[in-house]
Parts: sequence; C-alpha cells; structure tokens
Amino acid sequence: MTIRQYQTISPTLGNNVYIDEMALIAGDVHMADDVSVWPFVSARGDVNTITIGARSNIQDGTVLHVTRKTSSNPEGYPLVIGKDVTIGHKCMLHGCRLGDRILVGMGAIIMDNVIVENDVFIGAGTLVPPNKRLASGYLYVGNPMQKKRPLTEAEIAFLKQSAINYVELKNDYLNTTSNSER
Ligand SMILES: CC(C)(COP(=O)(O)OP(=O)(O)OC[C@H]1O[C@@H](n2cnc3c(N)ncnc32)[C@H](O)[C@@H]1OP(=O)(O)O)[C@@H](O)C(=O)NCCC(=O)NCCS
Repeated sequence: MTIRQYQTISPTLGNNVYIDEMALIAGDVHMADDVSVWPFVSARGDVNTITIGARSNIQDGTVLHVTRKTSSNPEGYPLVIGKDVTIGHKCMLHGCRLGDRILVGMGAIIMDNVIVENDVFIGAGTLVPPNKRLASGYLYVGNPMQKKRPLTEAEIAFLKQSAINYVELKNDYLNTTSNSER
C-alpha cells in the first residue's frame, strides 16, 4: 500500500495531490494542495514530521526522512518543504527546512538542520552539510556546497515555473482514467 499509517498517525493530503502508486508515504506526513510525488519516492514520517507546501513536487527516487527528538535535541529535526518547491530526481532530504520557490537539483543531499531561504537554486549533485543556511537569491553547487553566484532574473522566474510545470504534469496523470480509478 502506498500510504501507510505509523502507530496512530496517518498521512494527510490536500486537494488534487498526486502520489504515484510506486511511492511510499508513511506516518506523520502532511501535503498541501497540488503536491505531486513521483515513482520510488520514500517519505517516512515516523520519528518526526514531514510537511510539504502547495504545488511542490518530489521527483522520482527521492528519499525524505527526519531526526528523532532526544533530551539534547527536544524538537529533533522535522523536514519542512515550502510552496512551489521542485525536488529533482534521486535527492536525499533529511531533517532540513526549505522555504518557497526552491529547486533542488538531481542527486543533491541536504542534511540535518539546514535552512534554505526562499528563491534558491541548488545544483545537481550538491552536498549541503548540517547546520548551513543558504541565502535567498543564490545558486549553490558542489560537494561540499559553495555559494556560486547570484541567480539571474530568468532563473528566479524559472523556480516558480518549474512548480507550475509539475502541477500541469500531475494533472495529466490524475486525469488519466487508470490513475483516477485507483
Ligand atoms: C546549477 C545549474 C543550473 C548550472 O547551470 P549553468 O547555467 O551551467 O551555470 P553556470 O554556467 O553559471 O556555472 C557556474 C559554475 O558552476 C559549475 N556547475 C554548474 N552546475 C554544477 C553542478 N551541478 N555541480 C557543480 N558545479 C556545477 C559550472 O561548471 C561553472 O563552473 P566554472 O565557473 O568553474 O566554469 C545546472 O548545472 C544544474 O545543476 N541544474 C540542475 C537541474 C536539475 O537537477 N533539475 C531538476 C530535475 S528536473
């Protein structure tokens, strides 16, 4: 089953959310309207919470997880993804906080307690070490990540457009008879 309860907690989904039947969503996971989740995504909200804002997309093979609460870290590290965020193919997002209109390139890894401000582009394959803060309006690339350059106006516009593209794509999937009958 794609959507699983963990203990007493079940995922909650907004309107017109698309979750591919090959994805796994478990426990304390909350998605706003028009979110899309593509094949082989794992989003496991067991030891903390995962929230995903409206119109964000989580592309194929991405893993979303969180860090448990302990006496030395009473809140643990939930995973928070804002609105209009694109998470590319095969990313790993662990216990971090992303703002709005962000693109996380394919294969990027973002670790615990990272904060990504609004309007940031993270290049493919970037590794963001724990506790970093990424500033609004910049491109980050590399392993470990480096602040590469300010984004152009076209790139900032594309951050929002990428989310729109994925809302349209998931609507095509929702409108495909074999999907809507599931
Ligand atoms: C980041 C990205 C947008 C860069 O685009 P670009 O216009 O080629 O960027 P620039 O030409 O300004 O390159 C800046 C520098 O960063 C380097 N660079 C670009 N992408 C990089 C990456 N992912 N990792 C490391 N270095 C990268 C370039 O080689 C260049 O290095 P130089 O200054 O030494 O020559 C693009 O490479 C990328 O990673 N896109 C992600 C796409 C994606 O994953 N989409 C989601 C799935 S749909």
